Amino acid sequence: MTVSEFRARKSVGDPLVCVTAYDAPFARLAERAGVDALLVGDSVGRTVLGHDNELPVRIDDIVHHSAAVTRAVTSALVIADLPHMSYATVDIALRNAARLLQAGGVSAVKLEGGEETATVTAALTSRGFPVMAHVGLTPQTAYALGGYRVQGVRLSAAQAIVDDARAQADAGAFAIVLELVPAGLARAITRHLDIPTIGIGAGPHCDGQIQVIYDLFGFAETTHRHTRVFANIAGLAQSALADYARDVRDGAFPAPDQNFKGNRGVVDRLKFD
Ligand code: KIV
Repeated sequence: MTVSEFRARKSVGDPLVCVTAYDAPFARLAERAGVDALLVGDSVGRTVLGHDNELPVRIDDIVHHSAAVTRAVTSALVIADLPHMSYATVDIALRNAARLLQAGGVSAVKLEGGEETATVTAALTSRGFPVMAHVGLTPQTAYALGGYRVQGVRLSAAQAIVDDARAQADAGAFAIVLELVPAGLARAITRHLDIPTIGIGAGPHCDGQIQVIYDLFGFAETTHRHTRVFANIAGLAQSALADYARDVRDGAFPAPDQNFKGNRGVVDRLKFD
């Protein structure tokens, strides 16, 4: 999947399936499952690195996780987040986007914001860095938006999101994430733009959907209305670990099948003094 193929899917009407990925095993599984695009999101801070939010995530973290993901996949499009303050100016953004493409091996970057970051998007795209935009609830500025809550409910707020989406599309973004916005607003933006909209908590009318992979597997400590646990892998993993702990304590693990044999008599002839 190339950036142009991803963008062109809007006219085909076949929903784009996207999920976050932070490591090789899950990236490989997602690709084998037919996922179109993987996002090395700054949600890695909350889901993997133990932070409370996205703000402490550094560009080095995203480069590190991007490289793990891109080593594992052969055909899915891999996009990486520019984390908080890593695109504060055009120069900083260019340097960090280059690191993500060169050292991380990704094909595109994602940044948050509308009109206020459109100049950065324009600078990146004009120099050949494909950009996915992200409007609505933007986790890097969630405190300023009053926390993790639905955005664009009132007319003025909805209009601001439309204007933000328009500004990013005009600046050259090849796709745009709409996070936590009413379904009707997402549908209107999707109809109005000629680039794909990728929804998360934005209803069914977007051109595609994205979810945080750990949310699909029951790892989230707090559940969100916009997600669904498709398989309780977290529960399975916890019960497998409890079985392991029990078997170690009971002497049932390791069993003969897990042991190795040396040559007869070797141990008897060892000297320990
Ligand atoms: O970092 C992330 O996981 C994201 C998605 C929620 C779109 O930005």
